[in-house]
Amino acid sequence: MSDIINGSVYIVDLPDKVGQEVSLRGWLYNKRSSGKVRFLILRDGTGLVQGVMVKGKLPETDFTAFDRLTQESSLSLEGVVRVEPRAPGGYELEVTAVHPLHVAPEYPISHKEHGVDFLLNHRHLWLRSPRQQAILRVRDEIIRACRDFFADRRFVLVDTPIFTPTACEGTTTLFETDYFGDRKAYLTQSGQLYLEAAALALGRVYCFGPTFRAEKSKTRRHLTEFWMLETEVAFADLEDIMALAEALLCAVAVRVLENRIAELTFLERPLAPLQAIRPPFPRLSYTESLKRLTAAGHQLAWGEDLGAPEETALSQMYDRPVLIHHYPKECKAFYMKPDTVDPRTVLCVDVLAPEGVGEIIGGSQREDDLEALLTRIKEHHLPQEPLEWYLDLRRYGSVPHSGFGLGIERLVTWFCGLHHVREAIPFPRLMDRLTP
Ligand code: 4AD
Ligand code: MG
Repeated sequence: MSDIINGSVYIVDLPDKVGQEVSLRGWLYNKRSSGKVRFLILRDGTGLVQGVMVKGKLPETDFTAFDRLTQESSLSLEGVVRVEPRAPGGYELEVTAVHPLHVAPEYPISHKEHGVDFLLNHRHLWLRSPRQQAILRVRDEIIRACRDFFADRRFVLVDTPIFTPTACEGTTTLFETDYFGDRKAYLTQSGQLYLEAAALALGRVYCFGPTFRAEKSKTRRHLTEFWMLETEVAFADLEDIMALAEALLCAVAVRVLENRIAELTFLERPLAPLQAIRPPFPRLSYTESLKRLTAAGHQLAWGEDLGAPEETALSQMYDRPVLIHHYPKECKAFYMKPDTVDPRTVLCVDVLAPEGVGEIIGGSQREDDLEALLTRIKEHHLPQEPLEWYLDLRRYGSVPHSGFGLGIERLVTWFCGLHHVREAIPFPRLMDRLTP
């Protein structure tokens, strides 16, 4: 498709069109008048531009059409592009024609402050605001950077199912659905088990899709539906995937800083913390991290999981992501492989982002021994029968393999400097929110 739609150009392309007469289409962002001059600001999804209407320089009917135009009315504008350093974006349109397309009744979201609940109830309209557009553009850039990262390294994208017969991360956090009245199906908590099968077929794979968690959590990091990017690599050990996670985060940071400075600046996101995302990231065992936490006044007995306050404290000790590895077996999922030197711990890693963001990545080396995995399944009181296919991966050419999952919204939250994960996804699903 060309950059010209139905005869109209986009605002972002105006710098190439100085002196030319163009047609634009979009929505009214704002307007004002002073004397015989009327100013309107048009938005079209690619930017904002000011249109200047001078009485006598356009048909009188077009000039008076200005009065009918309300915020978010759709319209087309024709005019000549001029350089104007004082205008938003640096260009303006000397308007020669105005055609209202659809005049909106009073728009619920004004340029004033609104409460978060109000905005979330109007999320379908809130997305039009420049701040939300900026966040969605950063999200898009992050996702594309991730896909390119894996494609450049010969990983194959393998889509995993949403309906699943079993738990991956734990039975207490599953959303249950009725499957034709005779069976239960669960919404996926992770594509990992399927991705392991794919890794034994293709070597290096990744998936990216919606993921569901039913814990009754109302924290600012929790969504009931989020998007997870997962990767799995045959023959990789814990060290390998720690290096992979580090490389991925660095590559994404470089891309976002290359292409989305305007959006980050608009969001008033300080850039220094993103520029600091460079290898090597600090690596700490769980046991070492407990020592740091104790020194910082946190009381946690060995064996207890790190909670949000501990993660926040640890992540504030470093200027870049920190890799915490070798957690106690009890804190983690059934599929993780115990360490041979200290079998109380598993070969796992959590990546905590700085600035108090906390966990953004969780991963591990997988148990590849059939008998050991059967024991773990029993310890976790998981039914064996629905996992038989997964056990087959340990029966037919089992190999060491490892992988991790990255929560896209948590990464977007961190990169954009947001307080709450709800703004990092177009239509957030929270414990108390299923609409719009
Ligand atoms: O640590 P988690 O639960 O790991 C897994 O699901 C593994 N099976 C992944 C793998 O090894 N293939 O989740 C991974 C990441 C977390 O670090 C976090 O970023 C994100 O997914 N995440 C959530 N994001 C938003 N809301 C939630 N409720 C999330 N739960 C996990
Ligand atoms: Mg985790």
